[in-house]
Amino acid sequence: MKKILFVNACVRPGSRTLVLAKKALDKLDGQKEEVNLCQEKLLPLNREMLEERDALIAAGDFSSPLFQYAKQFAAADEIVIAAPFWELAFPAVLRVYLEHITIVGLTFKYSPEGMPVGLCSAKRIIYVTTAGGKIGGCNLGYEHIKALAGRFYGIQDVVCFRAEGLDIRGADVNGILEETLKEIESWSPSAV
Ligand SMILES: Cc1cc2nc3c(=O)[nH]c(=O)nc-3n(C[C@H](O)[C@H](O)[C@H](O)COP(=O)(O)O)c2cc1C
Repeated sequence: MKKILFVNACVRPGSRTLVLAKKALDKLDGQKEEVNLCQEKLLPLNREMLEERDALIAAGDFSSPLFQYAKQFAAADEIVIAAPFWELAFPAVLRVYLEHITIVGLTFKYSPEGMPVGLCSAKRIIYVTTAGGKIGGCNLGYEHIKALAGRFYGIQDVVCFRAEGLDIRGADVNGILEETLKEIESWSPSAV
């Protein structure tokens, strides 16, 4: 059965992003597993952690729990990431997660020419976000994930669902969310 990984970076209780992400997850068939980043104890990489990690990678020893997130990410057949639009991108907890999954030997390797080559099984990432204001052409969270996915993880298909303008005074919040829910509902995920 297809393994679907849900990377949940929704911080607020009552998250609107989470509502949209659940709809996207409903569209996918397979065994779903969630990593809730606000419940994990992930820390930004510091010098000691980097040294420990680099020594293990150099020894080819990926048995440490340090690598659990990268292994889980690499093994997923499809990935849904939910992250509210914060500072034109996403919450820091997602950035920290990216530091933990971008591991040479697990999610990517280097070619003899020094170019990253993806090692992930997934063919597609679905990125879901909601914004208080207008995102316009500044969807930097999505762009960051798309660039990393394409250049490092080897995942070329990155789809974005977004709802914006939710915090603008007088906004029809339910109406805006309903539009994106309909968009997700009418989306036909091709088999990947
Ligand atoms: C820390 C923080 C940073 C935010 N930064 C932005 C921003 O840069 N641009 C914007 O339009 N809205 C911003 N917002 C508003 C959120 O994008 C908006 O409320 C979003 O719908 C929250 O998603 P949620 O309901 O899933 O928590 C920010 C909100 C917070 C709490």
